[in-house]
Amino acid sequence: MKKALVIGAQGTIGAAIVDHLQGRYEVHALSRNKTDFSEEGLKDAATALQLKLDDPSPFELIICTIGFLSKPGVSPEKKLADLDAQSLMEYFSVNAVIPALCLKYFSPMLKRDSKSCFAVLSAMVGSIQDNKLGGWYGYRSSKAALNMLIKTASIELKRTNKVSVVVAIHPGTTIGPLTQPFSKNIDKSKYYEPQLSAQRIVDVCESCEIDDSGQLFNWDGKRLNW
Ligand SMILES: NC(=O)c1ccc[n+]([C@@H]2O[C@H](COP(=O)([O-])OP(=O)(O)OC[C@H]3O[C@@H](n4cnc5c(N)ncnc54)[C@H](OP(=O)(O)O)[C@@H]3O)[C@@H](O)[C@H]2O)c1
Repeated sequence: MKKALVIGAQGTIGAAIVDHLQGRYEVHALSRNKTDFSEEGLKDAATALQLKLDDPSPFELIICTIGFLSKPGVSPEKKLADLDAQSLMEYFSVNAVIPALCLKYFSPMLKRDSKSCFAVLSAMVGSIQDNKLGGWYGYRSSKAALNMLIKTASIELKRTNKVSVVVAIHPGTTIGPLTQPFSKNIDKSKYYEPQLSAQRIVDVCESCEIDDSGQLFNWDGKRLNW
């Protein structure tokens, strides 16, 4: 059976992806309750998985869902005057640095003898060209940084693992605690159940081709501008 790794497996979309993959993949899951998402913790988690599976490159599919938009004391900034150094660092740390470390330690675990895919969940609001409304400085810019990390990693992986695909995916606005504080402004016809988002994300990962590596995809498989 093909093997998949879901990083951030207890979040809304992460848990739905785990459920969706069950049966077709042997699913491995990392989440904050059991894994320390520091550099050392991720390195140890990668080594432990390689030993457990007795294979340095076992995964057809790796999806990193880690990200945050708001929490008590940190909420998206409406204007420059709202910027706060600590909050900005937290946005970058969770939305860009942790996924970058996941790329560092887990992308070498992508299969090398058939197409394999590493996807991170980014966001449409991280697209620089799509930014018409402004605001949300920390979330937008940390997801834009994530997008650049993906593009850059894709160039390196084209050299080191020619059958790998590295992509960023916008999951679509999904019902759950991340979006709940903003739900009154969300068009309900475009507010999706986590199960549907999970299915769409996996479809994008399975249908994208090696030449698609380094792209930002919408949940429906269309390419988005950076
Ligand atoms: N929901 C949407 O509409 C939407 C739209 C665009 C993009 N996205 C992106 O899609 C991804 C998943 O969203 P979601 O709705 O599933 O959000 P969620 O339910 O809040 O899940 C977020 C995930 O990130 C993890 N996480 C948060 N802060 C962390 C930290 N400091 N250290 C380590 N892990 C941390 C959470 O771990 P715990 O479970 O342990 O807290 C959880 O696995 C995020 O990257 C988000 O930015 C979502």
